[in-house]
Amino acid sequence: MFKQKAADDTTVEIKLDEERIPKHVAIIMDGNGRWAQKKLLPRVAGHKQGMEVVKEITKTASDLGVKVLTLYAFSTENWKRPASEVNFLMDLPVKFFDKFVPELIEKNVKVNVMGYTDQLPASTRKAVDDAIAQTSQNTGMILNFALNYGSRAEIISGIQTLATEVLENKLKPDEIDEKTLDRVLMTQQVAPYNDPDLLIRTSGEERISNFLLWQIAYSELIFTDVLWPDYKPVNLLADIAKYQARDRRYGGIKETKKESTDK
Ligand code: IPE
Ligand code: IPE
Ligand code: MG
Repeated sequence: MFKQKAADDTTVEIKLDEERIPKHVAIIMDGNGRWAQKKLLPRVAGHKQGMEVVKEITKTASDLGVKVLTLYAFSTENWKRPASEVNFLMDLPVKFFDKFVPELIEKNVKVNVMGYTDQLPASTRKAVDDAIAQTSQNTGMILNFALNYGSRAEIISGIQTLATEVLENKLKPDEIDEKTLDRVLMTQQVAPYNDPDLLIRTSGEERISNFLLWQIAYSELIFTDVLWPDYKPVNLLADIAKYQARDRRYGGIKETKKESTDK
């Protein structure tokens, strides 16, 4: 049982089954710009507030026993935005890790970054590399940032790796199976929890925007209208409760007691 203060200061009780906490939660953190515009602030004010939300949600997920929290922070398509916004976004990891690494260490959280990090500005890459190094000994939740990540690019890179292995006679085409592709995708960095159990997208948009296309084949999807800068720990608890009410069948049928004893 988790009790949380809601936005209107009333206490809400959300019952979660501690045995069925999703192991890998992925979030498309969307709506920062609209949050700021609603408040007549520049879009980047939404990104700044969004960064504060990342801290709270990371701590909540870690406390709940989530094993991997993957956060979509910057897509391979987000370079299309005005340079001033891109620059601000590229500076956020520097600010974020500068302040937050001690708390991550205290919570035993390990940082991972998946994406084309070689294309990031040197200062961003350094912030990321330092955070990874400083938390490398931690054994708790993995905080996995998708930074300059795009799923189609990831799949193409993976296929190129496999094609090279075939050319070098290290792999036969008919040996390629789901495990082989898993091995060359970026989520191998969070193995054995490669696939999200739960994917949440905030801000009311109901699309995937090039995120984990292969990995979400059987993920539970939750689209919430809450804008990311407004997303609170209580929203995460409520979304996990929703997840726990779902029936994951993976193409099979729901097992009832009677059917399982018939076997
Ligand atoms: C999500 O918020 C953050 C990033 C994509 C980096 P947006 O900046 O996309 O906010 P909206 O969708 O324009 O409101
Ligand atoms: C997806 O949000 C990318 C991130 C949250 C980092 P976008 O705001 O870029 O997605 P679209 O453009 O609305 O599909
Ligand atoms: Mg958006």
